[in-house]
Amino acid sequence: MNVLVTGGAGYIGSHACKALSAAGYTPVTYDNLATGWQDAVKFGPFEKGDLTDRDRLDQIFAAYRPAAVMHFAALSQVGESMRDPGLYWHNNVAGSLCLLQAAVQAGCLDFVFSSTCATYGDHDNVVLDETTPQHPINAYGASKRAIEDMLRDFGAAYGLNSVTFRYFNVAGADPEAEVGEFHRPETHLIPLMLDAVRGKRDALTIFGTDYDTADGTCVRDYVHVMDLVEAHLLGLAWLEEGRGSRVFNLGTGAGFSVREVMDQGAAVTGCEVPFVEGPRRPGDCTRLVSGSSRAESELGWRPRRSNLAEMIADAWRWHQAGHYEK
Ligand code: UFG
Repeated sequence: MNVLVTGGAGYIGSHACKALSAAGYTPVTYDNLATGWQDAVKFGPFEKGDLTDRDRLDQIFAAYRPAAVMHFAALSQVGESMRDPGLYWHNNVAGSLCLLQAAVQAGCLDFVFSSTCATYGDHDNVVLDETTPQHPINAYGASKRAIEDMLRDFGAAYGLNSVTFRYFNVAGADPEAEVGEFHRPETHLIPLMLDAVRGKRDALTIFGTDYDTADGTCVRDYVHVMDLVEAHLLGLAWLEEGRGSRVFNLGTGAGFSVREVMDQGAAVTGCEVPFVEGPRRPGDCTRLVSGSSRAESELGWRPRRSNLAEMIADAWRWHQAGHYEK
């Protein structure tokens, strides 16, 4: 059974392709390689193309007749989205509209969507579950919320069934190091920290030490990419069983500050993390931690690798292997 995987050459998409292939599906990667890597497409066919190219999408749906779409392709940097919101509304929102229209026209009505906890915005001391009001404070989160709205409307009008996952902070890598996280430029905490440890950059800058948290740095809920893609397979099964549209948080409920991540990084690598303290990064929420067990109770999702030490160790193994860095 073919599954169209947009963004299959990216970090999470490539891990999803590996998991789909292991489960007996054929992942068809559709990616414009703007932020992905052709080297990461190892588990099924590759079709280069842009989300906004409707003719190309129509060709792909006709050629592969996918049973479902997993839609990972997106720009996902909070800071960039604050500087250049138009990029996010174009690539993420207009691109997703084009994809959804092509899917509906092709009769491909099962859709798994990568959303984000950034759609919630800042809710200090409030447990974030799927019913928490969504008030994004950056254009990235706003673009993902708009796509969630689109899915709701396409569901009502055309019978599109969607499973939406609101990711918390995805980390780690394939323990076999076949695929991993590699962004250029890199903006995420754990890979930047590991680069600093390896001497590939001078020092990690801590973005803000005056937040209202125990140690003054931002708190995030980190989830292992392997656990995350496992949830996507459960989401696909949910759709195949005709259980309709549903939104799920994907986080563990445990929050770690930037300093706690650095401490764990030092423990895993055996090297202190060189760092400097800097100002806050615009658009960053103070604390994003999932307060929901819906994915566990309804999908049967059990995160197995999402402890901080294991996520950093798997990322460290991948970093040392240095894939895609030719
Ligand atoms: N951070 C630093 N220094 C850095 C990089 C990050 O201190 O050099 C801090 C950030 O301020 C933040 C934390 O580390 O507090 C995590 O930052 P990331 O950039 O790794 O992740 P974000 O939380 O900004 O964003 C990620 C994904 C988004 C997703 C979001 C939800 O990139 O797609 O998680 O929290 F929406």
